[in-house]
Amino acid sequence: MRASSDDIDTASVDAALSTTRAVRFRLDLERPVDQQIILDCIDIAEQAPSGGNQGSRRWLVVRDPELKARLAELYMSSAGRWMVEARDKLVGTGHHNEKVMASAAHLAEHLAEVPVIVIPTIIGRHDDSGRPGLFDSVIQSAWSFSVALRARGLGSAWTTAILNADDEIADLLGIPPEMTQIAMLPVAWTKGTEFSTAPRYPARDVTYVDGFGRIYDSGPSSPITLADGPGTVVERDIKAPIERLWELVSDISMPAAFSEELVGAEWADGVDGPAVGARFTGRSTHEARGEWEVPCFVTICEEPHRFGWVTSDPDDPGARWRFELERIAGSVRVRFILNLGPGPSGISEVIEARPELEARILNRRIAEHRANMARVVEGLATLV
Ligand SMILES: Cc1cc2nc3c(=O)[nH]c(=O)nc-3n(C[C@H](O)[C@H](O)[C@H](O)COP(=O)(O)O)c2cc1C
Repeated sequence: MRASSDDIDTASVDAALSTTRAVRFRLDLERPVDQQIILDCIDIAEQAPSGGNQGSRRWLVVRDPELKARLAELYMSSAGRWMVEARDKLVGTGHHNEKVMASAAHLAEHLAEVPVIVIPTIIGRHDDSGRPGLFDSVIQSAWSFSVALRARGLGSAWTTAILNADDEIADLLGIPPEMTQIAMLPVAWTKGTEFSTAPRYPARDVTYVDGFGRIYDSGPSSPITLADGPGTVVERDIKAPIERLWELVSDISMPAAFSEELVGAEWADGVDGPAVGARFTGRSTHEARGEWEVPCFVTICEEPHRFGWVTSDPDDPGARWRFELERIAGSVRVRFILNLGPGPSGISEVIEARPELEARILNRRIAEHRANMARVVEGLATLV
């Protein structure tokens, strides 16, 4: 096949890539899956890049009911039992993991009934063999396989829980010791073919330009400008209850305990705590500028997830700050985020005096902020 980009329907490709979900409840356990459709999808998957252009992927397609039953037992004993217990504990609680656990447990309980189980493998071991490039040649291919299934009305779920038992799987299926198993993909027609995109971070929040953590509201221009809304993100996973972290990040004086620039922060008269619109004064010090005060306004207060404020003028802020807290397995991911501008501030005054140095001034100022933000996030971890 040869194709020009003019032949490629961007909307279809984007739809397939954005809606290839982990399908578990909606796997059709009754409808048989023809081997040819699996082979067609593997042919597509084999077009994925591979290190050294070596075709080292081998695909195990398991159809035999007894083998599938044995794989289902291994899945259940390696992680499925835990998924079922978690599901039973969370049911009806509204816990953020309730749905995914119900779905994962359902798959664990029905794996043997899935028409086809596909295990992508690669020649080589991803241990101390020094050949990670070879190993990494299989994941993108297995994902292409999943997307090709989706485009045809079939579905799967990327699972790895069973790989704790990779020795037993190797014994069961006669996989030689030099092979690495990469995932186990249950494959079936889907019940219904509509799937949605999932909530994910917007690209701008997780895409860093010319340096880790560096973000922009727009652009960036070349060279960068204050109008791009340049900023930085510092993040760290902290093992503590989210409620405790919320108390700390919504305490406006907390950063002053760790920042070398922020000296203190006090709520305005009549304000008795964090709420959207609440005003406070921040006091800072810097060797080049001395001490100064800036009015701040809370703009985001979504307990226990997001707390943010802006400086100087809520309608034309000099800078925008926010904490984001996200529960992840076993801890909380804390993100401390700053964007400069678009309104006037100390930094815009410095730029007005030396406009030809705008990019350099911004880079240096953001590096200073980043260092202080890192101190605050480290400090936060010591407090809990
Ligand atoms: C590396 C990896 C391992 C995973 N392992 C399992 C697994 O063992 N069992 C399972 O049911 N789902 C597993 N998943 C699927 C995730 O739970 C799923 O992607 C997530 O819930 C988000 O759902 P979505 O893919 O539909 O957006 C795994 C996903 C990845 C990327």
